[in-house]
Amino acid sequence: MLKEREQWKSRLGFILAATGSAVGLGNVWRFPFVAGEQGGAAFLVIYLIAVAFIGYPLMVTEISIGRKTQRNPIGAFKALAPNTPWWIVGGVSVLAGFIILSYYSVIAGWSLAFIIESIAGFPEGIEATDQLFGGHKTGIAKPIFYHALFMVIVIGVISAGVVKGIQRVVQWLMPILVVLLLMVVVRSVTLPGASEGIAFLFRPDFSAVSWDTILSAVGQSFFTLSLGMGAIITYGSYLSAKENIPSSSVQVIGADTLIAIISGLAIFPAVFALGFAPDEGAGLVFVTLPAVFAEMPFGGGVGFLFFVLLSIAALTSAISLLEVVVSYFVDEKDWPRKKAAASIGIAAFFVGLLPVLGYSALDHIKFLGMDILDTYDFFADSIMLPLGGALTAAFAGHVWSTKSLMEEANKESKSFRIGSWVGPFLKYIIPIGIIIVMIAGIIEVL
Ligand code: PHE
Ligand code: NA
Repeated sequence: MLKEREQWKSRLGFILAATGSAVGLGNVWRFPFVAGEQGGAAFLVIYLIAVAFIGYPLMVTEISIGRKTQRNPIGAFKALAPNTPWWIVGGVSVLAGFIILSYYSVIAGWSLAFIIESIAGFPEGIEATDQLFGGHKTGIAKPIFYHALFMVIVIGVISAGVVKGIQRVVQWLMPILVVLLLMVVVRSVTLPGASEGIAFLFRPDFSAVSWDTILSAVGQSFFTLSLGMGAIITYGSYLSAKENIPSSSVQVIGADTLIAIISGLAIFPAVFALGFAPDEGAGLVFVTLPAVFAEMPFGGGVGFLFFVLLSIAALTSAISLLEVVVSYFVDEKDWPRKKAAASIGIAAFFVGLLPVLGYSALDHIKFLGMDILDTYDFFADSIMLPLGGALTAAFAGHVWSTKSLMEEANKESKSFRIGSWVGPFLKYIIPIGIIIVMIAGIIEVL
């Protein structure tokens, strides 16, 4: 019944693919604006703690579950706990992947559109860029076109397979992304007055911290590391038994964290240098930055590079989102890969039309004051991923057992191993901590 399963062609292939999944809109678009809203460095500190103590054990757990079972998330839970309802955790994961893909592609579509706008040149002044972005987002044909274009590219990559599609694309695009990002950083930090933006990112003010800050930081740590929804289980399922899981996890997490901080360094110095506000929310990258690009020397070229890199980051993450769902239909329902990629991608496109129309025809639909896209994002990031992560941790600790987890994770680790401290973390600290933070944060938002 089990078909010959593809495997990453090298250790670097896996690291690049997992880093490609991790590094995305979450780093370049989401991290800077959430950090900007939540007080900068204070948020950064809490986020780093969440990454180290929740992100690392969970990353090791998800890769291990995937590699041990060689299955998609639903199949993986079924294999480790047959005849129990635990497969539902995998089911929630696959659903979360599908929902995130649907709106992720909409935002990625804005980014593609802004590559074109950057060539035409951004207008000066925040009112003008606000109008530009507002005009784009509230349109119908253009945002739908770019959303469709992005989804077609994602479907194309996934149809080509794990090695010929995913691995080949990330091997080309990840190095390009890093180079582009560094070029933007150099321009940003050398602007006169840039130091204020650097201070904003690194000098913490803990008076601004609330439960909402903590929930945002925990939610962000899941989202940014692609945890809590099976993407890492799926990529781990293509990993060979020869590779060291704890050290791979550290590398992926290190790269993701570094790129989030570097993105902050690309954005805040320029925003402060030109006298803009850091707490513009979701519009930071699409409204504030274009205004910054319009005013700074070489801004046109920098703006172009920035939106190309943002689109690349989004693509290497979106392919992992689609792969989660595709792997389920390929493994469990015996669908051919191409058919699965196309039909699921198209379905996600249609579900993504709601958030697109949430800025035009459906702009009267609000949930707790949020438009449809923000509502999808809130459910995914603040509810589904933390819940998925809490349940995955509890499952690994109590059901699969810390012993089996450590056996798989440390299989090839003579020197770098995960210690038995993960036991209490997976069993109690992570699930209980996440539930407390979720409830307190949600009560505060209501
Ligand atoms: N980690 C990606 C980002 O930071 C988003 C993502 C979440 C991708 C979950 C896959 C799975 O943008
Ligand atoms: Na990320």
